[in-house]
Amino acid sequence: MTVDPLALAPTTLTAACAKAWIDDLLTLEQTLRATAGETYAPEGWTAGQFLSERPAKWQLSQVIRTDQALLAFVIASAPDPATGHLHRVGVRPDCQRHGLFRRCCGATVAAARELGLQRLTCTLTAANTRMAAALEQLGWQRFDAAGLTDFAAAHGFSVAQDELWTAAGRFQARWLPLR
Ligand SMILES: CC(C)(COP(=O)(O)OP(=O)(O)OC[C@H]1O[C@@H](n2cnc3c(N)ncnc32)[C@H](O)[C@@H]1OP(=O)(O)O)[C@@H](O)C(=O)NCCC(=O)NCCS
Repeated sequence: MTVDPLALAPTTLTAACAKAWIDDLLTLEQTLRATAGETYAPEGWTAGQFLSERPAKWQLSQVIRTDQALLAFVIASAPDPATGHLHRVGVRPDCQRHGLFRRCCGATVAAARELGLQRLTCTLTAANTRMAAALEQLGWQRFDAAGLTDFAAAHGFSVAQDELWTAAGRFQARWLPLR
């Protein structure tokens, strides 16, 4: 697909948009699972997970789409009042390396600042070098699992409940301070 990044702006994924575009979200999810496999995520997401209600989800989540197709998504929420978490991130394989993640993530960061959040967190598989490179490029810092647990405890916040806590070593964790 020919992508003109300048013509593509992120759109906030509201609950209504998520419902309307659920087939496109699931199609992109399946494509990412088929191409990146467990490096992307150990388990596929269902419609229920894309549509679930979570705090600030419909302000923080972003998509990029054309009239024909969904090209990118960042699904995020705020598990505690100071912390936003990226739950699911993906860019259509034939549209990668055109800055679409940079744009979606930038919109999530802007929304997080508007909501007064102090940090964003994200966990990714240890093997996901592409996502690690993309986050690093955008100024995200790295924690190992133990480091993140210690950091969270020291700062009195919790990150999203996910596999990090039970499968230390299979995942890497990153965070972005917002202030
Ligand atoms: C990781 C992913 C979201 C990045 O999306 P993207 O739109 O291609 O990223 P961008 O074009 O915005 O890249 C931003 C920067 O990240 C870095 N980067 C992105 N992909 C990279 C790669 N494959 N190798 C090295 N660096 C990479 C680069 O520094 C890039 O800037 P540059 O192109 O100007 O050099 C995309 O590769 C993807 O969907 N992967 C499969 C799904 C997945 O792993 N999701 C994350 C699960 S937590």
